[in-house]
Amino acid sequence: MSLILPRWMNALPGALAAMAGLASGSVVAGVWYYFTPSYWEVGYRPDQPVDYSHQLHAGKLGIDCRYCHVAVEESYSATVPDVATCMSCHTGEGETGFLNFDLWQAHKNNPNLVALRSAFASGEPVRWKRIHKLPDYVRFPHAAHVNAGVSCYSCHGNINELKVVAQTEPLSMGWCLECHRQPEKALVDVDGLLGEGKVRVTDLARVAKLLDSKEQMAKGAQLAEKRQIEPPENCGACHY
Ligand code: HEC
Ligand code: HEC
Ligand code: HEC
Ligand code: HEC
Ligand code: HEC
Repeated sequence: MSLILPRWMNALPGALAAMAGLASGSVVAGVWYYFTPSYWEVGYRPDQPVDYSHQLHAGKLGIDCRYCHVAVEESYSATVPDVATCMSCHTGEGETGFLNFDLWQAHKNNPNLVALRSAFASGEPVRWKRIHKLPDYVRFPHAAHVNAGVSCYSCHGNINELKVVAQTEPLSMGWCLECHRQPEKALVDVDGLLGEGKVRVTDLARVAKLLDSKEQMAKGAQLAEKRQIEPPENCGACHY
């Protein structure tokens, strides 16, 4: 049995009890796995109910992340969009919506879009599987990060190039603290303070280049100083 056990176990501590019935080797694996802090591992990539592609929408079509993840600048959660958000472009028969008719015609019978439209018609939500998830005892506010100038790229990787979302960072305590101790590695100029124009945290391709450049540490340090950015390291900041 592999160590990659079904994800639903994470939500069900009782699964450990159920596992007592399995071979003892698996029980050890299960216990080890369950208590390992980052059980939502790097590379975690569940199959989703609809084949939605970030590579197509955020990458090729260039739709800004905030069009769908609307709360990311204001609240703790980024939120995943409801079907109505998709429907502003993928409307049904007889309506053309945002898409031009030829494009719509070409995709009309795409099974994923058929599923999407019938979900919309019936009012059923699409049950996307959650990928990035911290334990309940950790506090992680998206808005504070995004507004400080930390790009989605630093924590979610090159999602604009992925057909299927996968977790690219460990999301462990050590990972959080590494950046909190040295935020200059990750800060981009969201306000245009360095006189080189504003950088959008959602422009992942541009951010990737900037963070890779030789000047990043110096620029990041300047930004941290100007904006008095001091990420917390005390336990109470991240733990309830
Ligand atoms: C057209 C809508 C749309 C746009 C634009 C979009 N996303 Fe998403 N995003 C979704 C949907 C739907 C999901 C849930 C399904 C999935 O995981 O693919 C999702 C999932 C995610 C997740 C994983 C959530 C989890 O469960 O952990 C991350 C991270 C994410 N998006 C980041 C981004 C970033 C960064 C951008 C911009 C580069 C972006 N998204 C642009 C619709 C969108
Ligand atoms: C701003 C407009 C817009 C929004 C919002 C949008 N899409 Fe799309 N989507 C498009 C366009 C345009 C295409 C066709 C692209 C092409 O053929 O090159 C497309 C294609 C698709 C396809 C077919 C891809 C294929 O070729 O198989 C799926 C599935 C899809 N979208 C799902 C979604 C889902 C799910 C959402 C909501 C989370 C969503 N879309 C939101 C514009 C949008
Ligand atoms: C400093 C790291 C960091 C940055 C920057 C960041 N995220 Fe996240 N993101 C996370 C973590 C950690 C989680 C898991 C949060 C949890 O479980 O409470 C997450 C979860 C998500 C989710 C899952 C659903 C939800 O509501 O939380 C989406 C969608 C998402 N992020 C999108 C984005 C987008 C879009 C951006 C950029 C505008 C972004 N994130 C920037 C670390 C980050
Ligand atoms: C890539 C860098 C980076 C990573 C990774 C990161 N942070 Fe942060 N964090 C920051 C920055 C920058 C700030 C903003 C500090 C400021 O505005 O003074 C911040 C602020 C915070 C704050 C304070 C928010 C507030 O309202 O003042 C909390 C809580 C926090 N982070 C939790 C986390 C947790 C939990 C993780 C890991 C899951 C994490 N961070 C990962 C860079 C990061
Ligand atoms: C920047 C945010 C941050 C700060 C500050 C922080 N933690 Fe954590 N801590 C986390 C995250 C995120 C996790 C969850 C790790 C995971 O799931 O992999 C965690 C997990 C834990 C765990 C349980 C997981 C394990 O390793 O067994 C303990 C205990 C803990 N932290 C204690 C502390 C103490 C004590 C402090 C202060 C010295 C502290 N933390 C400061 C983010 C933080």
